[in-house]
Amino acid sequence: MARVLVGVTGGIAAYKACELVRLLVKAGHEVTPVLTPDAERFVTTHTFEALARREAPRDLYPHLVESDLLVIAPLSANTLAKLAHGLADNVLTQAALAFRGPLLVAPAMNVRMWEHPATKENVATLVERGVEILGPEAGELAEGEHGPGRMTEPEAIFARCQKILRHTSSLAGKHVVVSAGGTREPIDLVRFVGNRSSGRMGVALAAEAKRRGADVTLVYANGSILPPAGVEVVPAPTAADMRREMLARGDAEVVLMAAAVADYRPSKPEEGKRPKDGEMWSLDLEPTEDVLAELGSMPSNGRVLVGFAADSGERGLERAREKLANKRGNLFVYNDVSQSGIGFEAEENELVLVSARGERRVGRRSKEECAVAILDEVEGLLGGG
Ligand code: CTP
Repeated sequence: MARVLVGVTGGIAAYKACELVRLLVKAGHEVTPVLTPDAERFVTTHTFEALARREAPRDLYPHLVESDLLVIAPLSANTLAKLAHGLADNVLTQAALAFRGPLLVAPAMNVRMWEHPATKENVATLVERGVEILGPEAGELAEGEHGPGRMTEPEAIFARCQKILRHTSSLAGKHVVVSAGGTREPIDLVRFVGNRSSGRMGVALAAEAKRRGADVTLVYANGSILPPAGVEVVPAPTAADMRREMLARGDAEVVLMAAAVADYRPSKPEEGKRPKDGEMWSLDLEPTEDVLAELGSMPSNGRVLVGFAADSGERGLERAREKLANKRGNLFVYNDVSQSGIGFEAEENELVLVSARGERRVGRRSKEECAVAILDEVEGLLGGG
């Protein structure tokens, strides 16, 4: 997920910006709309708030600092000129002047305005400064004239946004392997020893890595959450399957062990179904291999290895710190499962990220938002931080 500022200036194409916001939100991005006073004559801030599913911020500053992209669509001749000359007379031009990230603009104006030498010079200035300019497209214009002036269609602007955002993530093009779900260890043909993991956290991580442009493999143990589209899914129902599939992919650039792998399995599973006979039935359990520790003992080649610790209280956090060292991971994600409403089967989590970079507490939020925080940390570690 990325954070995108969508600037809208006045013009008949302003309504098309609604579709752009809708596409960006659907792709999982956090969108902050910024309308000029002139744009409000064509569309309302309220429309954009509804599409972005959040209120326009009172204070734009934190969004300026955190956003990954500013896209202005449509961009009027007037605002284009202001951008070229550094004017800051409304909330959008102020934002554009203060923003340090990539700027993508989709101009829309009358063909005569577009072809005027003043506009041409302004466009050249912006191009020289590294601003990406998309369109305008030729066609019939609002005034009945023909020529370049129409705003590029929202789908094409969206596609360009995605391309820019992928380039800004250090996960773009990297192989990310995520294990998720909970393994089931057979007792007989139909029964198993299992755990309560739903796979939600791992699936959220796979989706977020995919959004950042990574090649994602999800090694999935019996999860109940639908895997995200565009991700390679490898079934791994038992701890032995999980070990085999993960070790085969241990050379990926990022490995996230989010699966709840059984620590013990029945040592002699019965081949058929054991009939009921009213007698006591004891199971002998043998330890399984620790996949994370085995991955940690492989040569790392700059790989980032992430382990998860579901434990309780400060003592649990202490154990997570020890595991980071013992299993030779780069990051341990600790969540306190003694608290209600988070962790197993829940939709929310509350984490402490423990790494060589220090410890970061991530307050209670959806598992999708936790995935964002975890992958931000992973990106920091990939960068050698
Ligand atoms: N893990 C693994 N292979 C196992 C068991 C666990 O790779 N056989 C991984 C999990 O995917 C998770 C981490 O190890 O990333 C959890 O660490 P672990 O020490 O197993 O945690 P617990 O079992 O919760 O802790 P404890 O040692 O207290 O049993």
